[in-house]
Amino acid sequence: MKKGFVFDLDGVITDTAKYHYIAWKELAAEIGIEIDLKFNEQLKGISRMDSLERILTLGNKNDAYSSEEKDALASKKNTHYVQLLQSLTPDDLLPGVKTFLEEAKHKGIPCAIASASKNAPFILDKLGVMQDFDVIVDPATLSKGKPDPEIFIQAAKGLNIKPSDAVGFEDAQAGIDGIKAAGMYAVGVYSGEELHGADTIVEKLTDLSIDELLAK
Ligand code: G6P
Ligand code: MG
Repeated sequence: MKKGFVFDLDGVITDTAKYHYIAWKELAAEIGIEIDLKFNEQLKGISRMDSLERILTLGNKNDAYSSEEKDALASKKNTHYVQLLQSLTPDDLLPGVKTFLEEAKHKGIPCAIASASKNAPFILDKLGVMQDFDVIVDPATLSKGKPDPEIFIQAAKGLNIKPSDAVGFEDAQAGIDGIKAAGMYAVGVYSGEELHGADTIVEKLTDLSIDELLAK
């Protein structure tokens, strides 16, 4: 019997990947690197600095900037990204999310957010679902990003359950790998890219029965 749910944010609760893409694309263009939607898939679930490093690697520019300059580039991208997030409302929740969270609450199942995003509290607040989560892992406290299982293990700890008693939800391959490495049951939320290793794959949370999941 499962005892708690651990959710990724971007691509599972709401679709912010499009805003990350707009902001990274503009930043990359400013330094002479072109990124496309396919490349953007690689940035899902990856931290801000790791995303910047991947973009610089694409443009063969890893050594072109000091760490202070890289911080400034990441911060510029984030300022633009946060501007784009201002328009978020509860209507931007992905289909079925609110109902799923309400049903979980009704059944007494605690929920956590395990997102690499330092903007997670701001986004949850704009979406009006902050109070639906018992735990939001602070990515600043982690030593390794996804696909390392650390963030998922910390989420389970926050919920006071064993990772093997949790169900994890992810739209990115790095996240599915992290969930499985933590020993959780993995639900893949399909967003157009193939996901390997998930225990089940759905297009939206309404495709799931909470009771069936809890019985896994
Ligand atoms: C999520 C997204 C990534 C993003 C990361 C950090 O994992 O899927 O694309 O890079 O969060 O987000 P942040 O808001 O801290 O820049
Ligand atoms: Mg995601």
